[in-house]
Amino acid sequence: MSLGKIIDKKNKNLGKLINKQKVPEHVAIIMDGNGRWATKKGLPRSFGHNKGVSVLKDIIKASKKLGCKVLTVYAFSTENWSRPKKEVDFLMNLFNEVLKNEIEEIHQESIKIKFIGDLTPFPESLKTTLNSSEDLTKGNSDFTLNVCVNYGGRQEIVKVAKKLALKSISGEIKPSEVNEELFNSELLTQGIKDPELLIRTSGEKRISNFLLWQLAYSEIYISEVLWPDFNEDEFLKAIIDYQSRHRRFGGIESLPNKSFEDSFCSPLNKYD
Ligand code: IPE
Ligand code: IPE
Ligand code: MG
Repeated sequence: MSLGKIIDKKNKNLGKLINKQKVPEHVAIIMDGNGRWATKKGLPRSFGHNKGVSVLKDIIKASKKLGCKVLTVYAFSTENWSRPKKEVDFLMNLFNEVLKNEIEEIHQESIKIKFIGDLTPFPESLKTTLNSSEDLTKGNSDFTLNVCVNYGGRQEIVKVAKKLALKSISGEIKPSEVNEELFNSELLTQGIKDPELLIRTSGEKRISNFLLWQLAYSEIYISEVLWPDFNEDEFLKAIIDYQSRHRRFGGIESLPNKSFEDSFCSPLNKYD
């Protein structure tokens, strides 16, 4: 029986299947499928975005309760500007309204909110709300919510390359000093540990320009559920699946009762 089916059978006790010692510290989510959810119901796409907000609130609570420390969500990509102006305007307005309404509760929950992306093209009123929300919650340390807005992984990497090129022209650094650590320290996510787990909803199997550098060794979980239908149980399923993974980081796993020499077969003696 597949893990999915076992989980479905025990659905009522999902929490009990979680190993508390192996909860990922940082989970990233591509919240996808709002538009399709609404269209399926014969509703305008905006209804899907509205429902998506209430799901996000539930998932913040669920991940915090579980013991995760950081949740990073993809809310608006650099490519999403290509959507009809009406939808883009709706989303800008939604971000502004939701934040204004929710920021006090976010603060009371001791959540630090951070916006990752280029905020320059946003309407002034939205920029003010985003900045003041970050300011209000910057001292909170229980949990961090990173919201990626006007974010693109490629753009982020190009920006770092440009910055390091300029620093090396000005003599601030030597080109030979450019390494992964230095590169990492110039990313928008500097200081944030890479996500152990990436969840994408709606069944799409792509990254869509999200955290290209940071996801290098993240485990990927694709949920078939559209984001507005996602919930705590679906989130727990992703965590349980993550906990069954064997993370090797390019190495090999040590097998119980077997030394490396026992399990290693060189190409020379392979066919002996
Ligand atoms: C994700 O849902 C939300 C944003 C990208 C803002 P979509 O709006 O992409 O919904 P689908 O994928 O079209 O169903
Ligand atoms: C990714 O979803 C961006 C966000 C969830 C904000 P998209 O719906 O924009 O991605 P594609 O177009 O399916 O790749
Ligand atoms: Mg989509």
